[in-house]
Amino acid sequence: MELTLTRPDDWHLHLRDGARMAAVLPHTARRFARAVVMPNLDPPLTTVDAVLAYRARILAALPPGAAFEPLMTLYLTDETAPEEIRRARASGRVLGAKLYPAGATTHSSAGVRDIERILPALAALEEHGLVLSVHGEVTDPAVDVFERERVFIERVLAPLHERFPALALVLEHVTTREGVAFVREAPGRVAATVTAHHLLLNRNALFDGGLRPHHHCLPVLKRESHRRALIEAATGGDPRFFLGTDSAPHPRAVKESARGCAGIFTAHAALELYAEVFEAAGALDRLEAFASFHGADFYGLARNTGTLTLGREPWKVPPDYPFGSGRVVALRAGETVSWRLRGPERAPT
Ligand code: NCD
Ligand code: ZN
Repeated sequence: MELTLTRPDDWHLHLRDGARMAAVLPHTARRFARAVVMPNLDPPLTTVDAVLAYRARILAALPPGAAFEPLMTLYLTDETAPEEIRRARASGRVLGAKLYPAGATTHSSAGVRDIERILPALAALEEHGLVLSVHGEVTDPAVDVFERERVFIERVLAPLHERFPALALVLEHVTTREGVAFVREAPGRVAATVTAHHLLLNRNALFDGGLRPHHHCLPVLKRESHRRALIEAATGGDPRFFLGTDSAPHPRAVKESARGCAGIFTAHAALELYAEVFEAAGALDRLEAFASFHGADFYGLARNTGTLTLGREPWKVPPDYPFGSGRVVALRAGETVSWRLRGPERAPT
């Protein structure tokens, strides 16, 4: 069996930089025409100049002949000036800004500490028609780690949406039924990206046969009832939900340590993993809209031309992939993925 769809886009991706970026970029460029590349480098990309320089480095690192467009987003801090948002708009290359609550995840320490301080930047985003991408978790240590998305929606996101009703919002990597409900019910331009790993795994995967650092990501995996809500949202045809892998590579040694860091690498099989989810849900006919139409429509960009074909042909994921001077362990390492990308194998193995 084969499945051909319009070339998809990845609306949430971590590419890193330098040799690490060069190692993981081909995986994404083989599958996706475009990707929204996250700005949480170290140091973070808090100016339009830094974002555009990063974009140029991505283009320079592309394998010859690859047709791939990086879409960029600015890292918001308490200090982001409305003028920087205006510059982002004028560049024509930056879709919006990313709100990381300070301390919520990898390289977020420079993120937003006080929402009150970013109100001028949010007003500028709204005025210029740019998108606010949100890492939706509170950092309050008193809040249970599995509840941080729900509490963020109550305490921060819902009030923010009320205050800026015309601001386009993406709740990135939604993981809970409350997140799904917020997106479905919010008036205006509100959407969510959904990762393959949150569709495939529940929190049992963190402890399956022992502590599993390669299943640790943020927001953390949730219980099965939440996963079911995500599957319904992603496979149900609602245009407010679209593909965003949140593929987040880290060196093996940094994951396999006493404080294994958060991030799951899925770029090696990104679309193939979503195909498994849609197949299991009996919704393969809806994969194309989720992967190739909803995101472009939300961002007001043209849909891609060209196609991509997957075959129903199980293959074994290698134990790890090159990642700069180290290696990265991908989701399903040593195990099977049931769909395979057709076409020349360009990614390094
Ligand atoms: C991401 C990373 O490693 O950059 N990690 C993750 O677990 N998703 C950051 C993020 O998106 O939270
Ligand atoms: Zn991310």
